Amino acid sequence: MCGIVGYIGKKNCSSFLLDALEKLEYRGYDSAGIAVYNDHKINLIKKKGRISVLRNAVEEDENFDTDDSPFKVGIAHTRWATHGKPSDVNAHPFIGPSGKIAILHNGIIENYIELKKSLKRRNVKFASQTDSEVACALIDTLYDGDFFKAVKDAVNLLEGAFSLCIICADYPNMMIGVKKDTPLIVGYGENENYIASDISAFIGKTKKFCRLGECEIALFKDDSVNFYDFNGKKIKKDVITVDWNIKSSSKDGFDCFTMKEIMEQPSAVRDTITPHIKNSGIDIPELNSLPDDINKIYIVACGSAYHVGALVKYSFEKIAKITTIVDLASEFRYRSPVIDEHTLVIIISQSGETADSLAALRESKNRGAKTLAVVNVVGSSIAAEADYVIYTWAGPEIGVATTKALSAQLSIMYLVVLYISKKRGVISDLAMKKYIQNLLTLPDYILQMLECKDKVFEISKRYMDRDNIFFIGRGIDYAVCREGSLKFKELSYLHSEAYAAGELKHGTISLVEDGTLVIAVLTDKKLFEKTLSNICEVQARGASCFAVVREDKVSEFDVGVDDIITIPKVPSIFLPSLSVIPLQFFAYYSALLHERDIDKPRNLAKSVTVE
Ligand code: F6R
Repeated sequence: MCGIVGYIGKKNCSSFLLDALEKLEYRGYDSAGIAVYNDHKINLIKKKGRISVLRNAVEEDENFDTDDSPFKVGIAHTRWATHGKPSDVNAHPFIGPSGKIAILHNGIIENYIELKKSLKRRNVKFASQTDSEVACALIDTLYDGDFFKAVKDAVNLLEGAFSLCIICADYPNMMIGVKKDTPLIVGYGENENYIASDISAFIGKTKKFCRLGECEIALFKDDSVNFYDFNGKKIKKDVITVDWNIKSSSKDGFDCFTMKEIMEQPSAVRDTITPHIKNSGIDIPELNSLPDDINKIYIVACGSAYHVGALVKYSFEKIAKITTIVDLASEFRYRSPVIDEHTLVIIISQSGETADSLAALRESKNRGAKTLAVVNVVGSSIAAEADYVIYTWAGPEIGVATTKALSAQLSIMYLVVLYISKKRGVISDLAMKKYIQNLLTLPDYILQMLECKDKVFEISKRYMDRDNIFFIGRGIDYAVCREGSLKFKELSYLHSEAYAAGELKHGTISLVEDGTLVIAVLTDKKLFEKTLSNICEVQARGASCFAVVREDKVSEFDVGVDDIITIPKVPSIFLPSLSVIPLQFFAYYSALLHERDIDKPRNLAKSVTVE
C-alpha cells in the first residue's frame, strides 16, 4: 500500500527520494508526489500514475535542489487510494493553508470528518477528498513557530492508524516522522538519515535501521535523530542491522521479480532451515521458553500466508497430534475465538505489517494466548509485538504475489511442527532423524521441481483461452489448490476456484462442461484413487484435465488426462513445497500470455496495512 520516504542530508534530495520511491513501487500505488525544501519554501509536485511521470515533472522543474543550505530535506509518497479516487489533487504530499507545512500520510484517520468540520468552521479550505489533507491542515493550524510542538499536539488529536512524515518551510534542517499502527522505519546513513514505510527504500544505502514503535515520534535535526513519545518525552531506541543486499532487490537478469523469486525458492528454503538444524537435531532457541502445557494451536494469517497455515495444519494434527485451527485474520479478529494461556496462536506474515494479522495478534494477546510470529521482515510490527518470533530468510520479496516467502514459511513451519512434536513427546528419535534428513534435501528437490517450468509454459499456452478453471484436490492437496487458484486469479485476472474434490458433486459440478479446465493435484497416496474418480467424473462431463501427480503413482494413472506434471518422492508433509511450484508457473505464464503486469497486479498491494 502507500509508500512513504523522507530524506535529510547533504546530497541531491529529490534524486534520492525518486529512486527510493521506485524501490517502494512494488507495494502498489496509483499516484506519487514529492515535496522538497528549496529556497525558503516548499516545492511540491504530485501526479496521478507512474513514478516516471513524477520524475519527468521534477526533472523539468527548476525549483528542485537548487538550494545551497547545508542540509537538504524532502519527502515523497506513493498513494494507494482509500479516501478519494486516484488524482493529482488527492495525491500526497499535502501542503497546509499557510504553505509552510507539508505532510505525507499512510493509514486511515478515523475522526477526519469531525476534524474537517471543525477546521472548516475556522475557514480552512480543502481541495481533496482525503483524510490526509485534514491531518495536514490540523498541524498547520496548530503551528505557531514551534514545529515539533505543532506535530506533537496534532497527533494527540488524531484517531485511527497513521504514519506521518512532515517538513516545515521554517525549519530547513528538520524532518519529523510519526507512527501509530502503520509501519515507519528510520535508516541511518553517512551524514544523512532517512525515513520510510519499509526498509526496501534504503537497500544499498544502509543496513542500519530503527523501527518506530507505537505512538512514537522521530525528530531529525541536521544529521541526528531523536525519539519521543506522544507526550514529548525522549525515549531510547535500539538500532537493528539487516543484511539484505542490492542483488536481492534487483531483477538480476530476469524479466520480472516474480519469476526471479520463483527461481530463488531453493535458496529461500535453505537459508531459512539451515540455522535451525544443528547436530542432526532441531534448534529453535526462539521457542526455548514456550510452556509445556500448550494444548491447542491457532494459525491466523491472510491470503497465501493463511494457505501455509491450512497446509501445515495436516502435519500438526498427524505428527504433533495437537488440535490445530486455521483462521483468516480478518475473521478471527471479530469473532470470539476460544483461546487461553494454553493456546499458541501462530501469526504467519511475509511483511509483518498486515493490519488484520496484527490486530489478530493483539486480540490473541488480550485473551491470554501465547503468540508466535513467523515473519520475513526483520523488526516488523508483528515481530515486535509477538511473544516469540521466528524469521524466514527469503530476502526481500518484491513481486506482489508471494512465492519464495510462502516456500520459506512452509519450511520453517515444518520445523515448528517437528519441534512441538518432540516437546510433546509424540515423535520417535528415528522418525525425527528421518524427517530432518529429508528436510535438508528439500531445497534440492525444489530445484529439481523448477525444471517443469518450460513444460508448464507449453501447457499454459494450450489453455490460455480458458477463463474459468477449477483446481481440485483432497486433504493437503486441496490446500495446495487454494494457493494455486489464488495465484492464478491475482496474476492472470481470470476466474478460478479451488474445490475439495469430493465436494464437487454437491453442487459445483453443474458448472463443468465441454472445455472447462480442471487442474487436479494428487500427491496424497491414501486419497489418490478417490481424486482419480473425481477426475473421471469431470472428464465424463467434457472437462480437460491437467494433473499434478506424485512420480510413484504415474503408472497407476490409467484414466488418461491431457497433461501431467510429476512430483518427486519426498515424505508427505513436504509434498506441498513441490506441488505448489507447477501451479506458480501456471499462474505466471497465464499472466504473461495475457500481458498482465506480473510484478504489480492491478488493485493489489504488497503490504496490506489497512483493514
Ligand atoms: C498472495 C499474497 C497475499 C499475501 C497476504 C498476506 O500472493 O501475496 O495474499 O499472502 O496479503 O500478506 P503478509 O504475508 O505480508 O501478511
